[in-house]
Amino acid sequence: MQRLRKAVFPVAGLGTRFLPATKAMPKEMLPVVDRPLIQHVVDEAREAGIEHFIFVTGRNKGVIEDHFDRQLELEMTLLERQKRAALDVLQRELPEPGSTSFTRQQEPLGLGHAVWCARELIGQEPFALLLPDVLVQHERGCLAQMIDAAAELDERANIVAVEEVPAERIDQYGVVGVGTQKGKTFVITGMVEKPPRERAPSNLILTGRYILQPEILKILATQDRGAGGEIQLTDAMIALSRTQPFYGLKFDGVSFDCGSKIGFLAANVSYALARPDIAPGFRAEIKKILAEINGR
Ligand code: G1P
Repeated sequence: MQRLRKAVFPVAGLGTRFLPATKAMPKEMLPVVDRPLIQHVVDEAREAGIEHFIFVTGRNKGVIEDHFDRQLELEMTLLERQKRAALDVLQRELPEPGSTSFTRQQEPLGLGHAVWCARELIGQEPFALLLPDVLVQHERGCLAQMIDAAAELDERANIVAVEEVPAERIDQYGVVGVGTQKGKTFVITGMVEKPPRERAPSNLILTGRYILQPEILKILATQDRGAGGEIQLTDAMIALSRTQPFYGLKFDGVSFDCGSKIGFLAANVSYALARPDIAPGFRAEIKKILAEINGR
């Protein structure tokens, strides 16, 4: 496959499930340990070799743009106070000048519409799409695993990351049909967005990581509204799958749906326990809390 240079991050969602935390702050800025959700996902893309980061934002999301810029006043203060380590973190993580772009989705018309809003920035090349609600924890990031898999596939391949979910949650996601398998990769035979449990083609769902060919953008331009009255990316992918191959990758790692409170809290616990500087103290606190509760 042509080298993947660009990644799209749809960050226009309202975050109603996290009110009042998200009343004045975008949900993508909620921290998992000490990094905003969006930073975790941008890191995953950067680790996979992405060079251009395209954010589809909305009203009241300006702070995301600020997060990926310098904060000169803060840098000066850290320097004066000789907080070298904190300053290093900020400088190390700063995107290259000119490597971020921001466009707006003016109305919440769905994921497909959000991707279409980035069409001018994507241009005519394959691109990655990462949904910042979903974190995948593994030593090799999910997108990097997908790029590894793409190396074995044809030029025009579209690839989506998939995972199993319990039957009672299947109707919350896009679901894929499974064809010929080779290792962790398989041919996708069908897709459906948020099907009722009995109509789901499998228990494998779209996790929120995609590698897509640019032809999806033309389809999205005229895509009708689908499930939930929204312009669904999954419906456009179904249309594209008539002319281009689609593959699923059963990635390695644990995913957290941080769009839900439980997923978000679980991500915090799991990421904290994976941090050598925090894990020992945090584990002791959890033990204490559980002992307290169990002793009641
Ligand atoms: C979106 C996609 C869905 C996918 C999910 C992953 O749904 O439309 O196919 O399974 O993300 O989180 P949403 O969560 O926006 O309803």
